[in-house]
Amino acid sequence: MIKAIRGTRDILPPGSNEWQKVEDLSRRVFRLFGYSEIRTPIIEETALFVKSVGEETDIVKKEMFSFVDRGERDISLRPEGTAPIVRAYLENNLDKTDPFQKLYYIGPMFRAERPQAGRLRQFHQIGLEAIGSNSPALDAEVINVLIRLLETNGIKKYELKLNNLGCREDKKKLSKTLKEVFSEKTVSARLCEDCKRRVATNPLRLLDCKEEGCRLVIREHFKNVEFLCSDCKEHFAEVLKFIDLLKIPYSVDPYIVRGLDYYTRTVFEVTHKDLGAQNAIGAGGRYDNLISDMGGPSLGACGFALGVDRMIMALGKDAETVKAAAGIDLFVATIGKEAYSKAFLLLNELRGAGVSCDIDYELRSLKSQMRSADKQAARFVMIIGDDEVAKSEAVLRDMKTREQTNIRFPDLVNSIKGKIC
Ligand code: HAM
Repeated sequence: MIKAIRGTRDILPPGSNEWQKVEDLSRRVFRLFGYSEIRTPIIEETALFVKSVGEETDIVKKEMFSFVDRGERDISLRPEGTAPIVRAYLENNLDKTDPFQKLYYIGPMFRAERPQAGRLRQFHQIGLEAIGSNSPALDAEVINVLIRLLETNGIKKYELKLNNLGCREDKKKLSKTLKEVFSEKTVSARLCEDCKRRVATNPLRLLDCKEEGCRLVIREHFKNVEFLCSDCKEHFAEVLKFIDLLKIPYSVDPYIVRGLDYYTRTVFEVTHKDLGAQNAIGAGGRYDNLISDMGGPSLGACGFALGVDRMIMALGKDAETVKAAAGIDLFVATIGKEAYSKAFLLLNELRGAGVSCDIDYELRSLKSQMRSADKQAARFVMIIGDDEVAKSEAVLRDMKTREQTNIRFPDLVNSIKGKIC
């Protein structure tokens, strides 16, 4: 039997109802904050990610699903959403027609990481990109949307950490200092193999190495390093002022650098207490050079992405809760052929009136039909037999209270609508 590819999975009902709920609530939050949806292709030129995410990052070096197509083009499945959105922004001349854009996206991303709980090769992100402003109020708003998304979806045990990476010059300064400090022989000898390589290729990534040994060495040697210019310091102070105004709890963590090269100034990460090793539920930051690096004008921008798979894990709802929440309004059970035809027609009327309802298609016994009603978590069951058709009425059972009432056919739709509202 052919199976789903490792690190990918099917999202089946009733679990898919939970996904829809998260997506619907998130769209509502984005609308509240004035964000509009953007949809970009799943495949892009590989060069887009090499240029933006960075040649030396894990994503580009080891994790992209890349291939050469029939036209000899280097193509990759998108590992993230920011670079494609900046590409779309510039390609569609938004920088010229309407430079300030507040865009959101929901969709699958692909990274060839080693699969484990909460880490997939096809995962899903809900994110936003606000392009065209340097205002620190925007950083705070972006963080506010992220927090509002978590709260609206009922996710509580999260923790927000912020850092200031500074502008490109500040980052260069920091990289240079890190290179100097950590290439010193006795220090370097204590680093993991990856970090030994990072000293030369991407020193900033030393700061967020998860290896315990490296964390110790880095905390010993990375202290009070001054690398931020006064503008960047001021920008961050303003961001924090706005976040304080919104009363969003956070801590500043100087070891947050993020695994994508395009970040400048504010970066942030949200972790969740119940998610185990893969506890980053969302992350983002400013990327003030990306638009110009991609050939556009010099414009500030800021964004984030939440991992939907991890949001669903954090919600931790069991199958029964999800099923109950996703249940239908009414199951129509029938006894006899005449009753089935009547019910079939009624079903159409009920659906037209906005009542979600279903019926058995196999003319099974009443007992099995009641089992189906249960399986679909129906709020009410309507029972129609040939006798009821003769009397022009149906029996309605409330599945919560187990009460039964008789309702005449002409009153059915209104009566049921009244009960489910
Ligand atoms: P990222 O930190 O690479 O940022 O990913 C954001 C979130 O996607 C992570 O916090 C995590 O929840 C989820 N995620 C990432 N990889 C996986 C995986 N293999 N399996 C499951 N979930 C995963 C970005 O992608 C940036 N584009 C965010 C951004 C937007 N920055 C500015 N604008």
